[in-house]
Amino acid sequence: MALLEIQGVTRRFGDFTAVDNVGLAIEAGEFFTLLGPSGCGKTTLLRMIAGFDPADGGRILLNGEDLAGKPPEARPVRTVFQSYALFPHMTVEGNVAFPLRMAKTPEREIAPKIAAALEDVRLVGFGKRMPQELSGGQKQRVAIARALVTHPTVLLLDEPLAALDAKLREEMQIELIDLQKEVGITFIYVTHDQTEALALSRRIAVMNQGRVEQMDAPSNIYNFPRTRFVADFIGHCNLLSGPVIANVRGVVTLDVKGLGPVDVATGSKIARGSSGSIALRPEKIRIEAPSSTPPNHHYRGTVAELLYMGDVTVYKVATQNGTRVEALRANSESGRAQFFDVGDVVEMSWPVDAGHFIAE
Ligand SMILES: Nc1ncnc2c1ncn2[C@@H]1O[C@H](COP(=O)(O)OP(=O)(O)O)[C@@H](O)[C@H]1O
Ligand SMILES: [Mg+2]
Repeated sequence: MALLEIQGVTRRFGDFTAVDNVGLAIEAGEFFTLLGPSGCGKTTLLRMIAGFDPADGGRILLNGEDLAGKPPEARPVRTVFQSYALFPHMTVEGNVAFPLRMAKTPEREIAPKIAAALEDVRLVGFGKRMPQELSGGQKQRVAIARALVTHPTVLLLDEPLAALDAKLREEMQIELIDLQKEVGITFIYVTHDQTEALALSRRIAVMNQGRVEQMDAPSNIYNFPRTRFVADFIGHCNLLSGPVIANVRGVVTLDVKGLGPVDVATGSKIARGSSGSIALRPEKIRIEAPSSTPPNHHYRGTVAELLYMGDVTVYKVATQNGTRVEALRANSESGRAQFFDVGDVVEMSWPVDAGHFIAE
């Protein structure tokens, strides 16, 4: 049995459905992420798990027990918000002690619990400071210490790093991974940032318009997106669409506008005449100077745009009919920072198993 079972949970605001029949099973001790664009229902789902809002349909079970009707403070669930929500007039210690005092923890037990929680978040020695004397990253650590001090079964984190700058966010991500391993508490993490989700999570549920489109390990989400939405939302992805014109021994051929026949290996049975898309990551495409007679499955185009990003260069290649294909080349491949210029004719190719077929 999973630790937290979310079964067909729905939440409506008027006639708008913010969370639409969501089902998830989250295991004990897992780092689980809800990923999706702003407005897709992530916070609404967290609020129902925490008990701040009731569900309009479905059930939420923790260790097999239905949480319906249990107020937030009676649930072994704590939430960390993007805005930290620290009490500004209390010291760090006061903030961390607050949930313990609310729970009427004997006073002599409080000091060692505060010390342990501050150690968990690497804030030993900061107990007497006021929140305004802390950096954004330190404030968020205090909020996490306050959430962990009562040893909840589940910790909910709603975009906790969104207010931090990129470098600090990356440091905090690594700390969160370590912290979660150390305390062993189930983390349910919410973010709209796909890089963050891929880096942190054991499993990710990708949400779109109140629904879960795919739930999987990060590498499966990235390499085998089940829908166009997931392919497009997670990183950069070419979506080559068209009718299926052949299917021979597990290789499907699509007639893609601007490219012509494109092959993709697939395990599933796809009928000729149906249509679909090939999700093809830019880094899987080989881009080179054109050969005199292009071999099969090599596609010509003209560099329309390029983005030099330091470690890599992204090429946007225009083929016939204005179709654009994005290809990425690592700059480690050569001493030169750039291989092609805007206007250069290039040839693109990729192995038949580089793409992933998505049925329409
Ligand atoms: N209390 C509310 N009343 C009306 N609409 C709401 C309320 N809370 C959220 N919504 C709407 O529900 C949708 C999902 O919101 P939310 O769960 O906050 O999204 P996310 O956290 O993924 O950005 C949004 O369109 C939002 O405007
Ligand atoms: Mg939100």
